Amino acid sequence: MRTEVAEAVARLRAGELVAFPTETVYGLGADAANPAALAKIFAAKGRPADHPLIVHLPSPAHLARWAREVPAEAERLAAAFWPGPLTLILKRRPEVSDAVTGGQDTVGLRVPNHPLALELLTAFDGGIAAPSANRFGRISPTSADHVREELGDRVPLVLDGGPCPIGIESTILDLSRGVPVVLRPGAVGATDIARVLGRAPETTVPQAETPRVSGSLEAHYAPSTPLALVSSDGLLFALRNALVAGEKVAVLAPTAQAITHELVTWKQAPAEPAGFAHDLYASLRELDALGCVCILVQQPPAGEAWLAVNDRLRRAAAGAGEDDET
Ligand code: TXA
Ligand code: MG
Repeated sequence: MRTEVAEAVARLRAGELVAFPTETVYGLGADAANPAALAKIFAAKGRPADHPLIVHLPSPAHLARWAREVPAEAERLAAAFWPGPLTLILKRRPEVSDAVTGGQDTVGLRVPNHPLALELLTAFDGGIAAPSANRFGRISPTSADHVREELGDRVPLVLDGGPCPIGIESTILDLSRGVPVVLRPGAVGATDIARVLGRAPETTVPQAETPRVSGSLEAHYAPSTPLALVSSDGLLFALRNALVAGEKVAVLAPTAQAITHELVTWKQAPAEPAGFAHDLYASLRELDALGCVCILVQQPPAGEAWLAVNDRLRRAAAGAGEDDET
């Protein structure tokens, strides 16, 4: 075992926080069976205590330690997608801490697909509760440096696994209601899920039944610079207006730089969804640090392949520039 993994396990057992890489984003981990350790997650993130956490497991064999019912559909999805970017919401066992579930009757579980995370989980041999390792409402970290920027010495140890290969958070699928419901889109799409289940998941949740999913808040995953989603024509229009007003602006667009000007910082985004997702949070962080009046993002195409990316962009646009995220 790598020495840093041994140190991480010792710290988790001592009730401390450890940040670690996953294939999606970095997580801020604590022993999911230790309520005092879980309380440190909420304190470090500034996250409301009733927002539930995902429990990361070393293998699907651990499911039944956390879920009181493991439906056949959960087994099939786990076999198909784990380790991987899919979180399953199942009915909790009674002994699962309320700090993990937010007091709900369900628990979110996933086996992440990252060698360092799997080594850590296997050595720990238990559940590690981990939200994304950012302050509440802000952009999720996709590198160890981002975690340090977000949390500083609030997290005593950050395992460095390099940049996250996927770059946006896992798909969350609720299997606790009889019909499967996608609560948060991610790299595992509704079509992938339907292929395994033989039925399509629902993708919208009736308002009254919506569980508390902080990832479902409109103002989330946001930079502090105002962010506007624009069409390609709208981009040129907004740019001209900004330059007339003498405003410094940042652009994230799939095209090469269309306007060269000292007030404009242009970042080219990959033209396909996986690449776009991979770079998205790092690009927003970089552009956010420039002190621009606005970040203009050219809206990617519609369609299922772009669903998760468009979801994060919409939330970033809704929440940008606010310091008091809900
Ligand atoms: O990719 C990911 O899922 C990353 C990595 C670290 O695994 N984690 C992550 O955690 O994004 P977090 O806490 O930032 O977002 C997890 C989402 C939250 O919106 C939370 O409300 C929801 O999962 N969640 C957790 N347990 C739930 C439950 N029992 N019912 C409904 N939503 C739940
Ligand atoms: Mg998060």
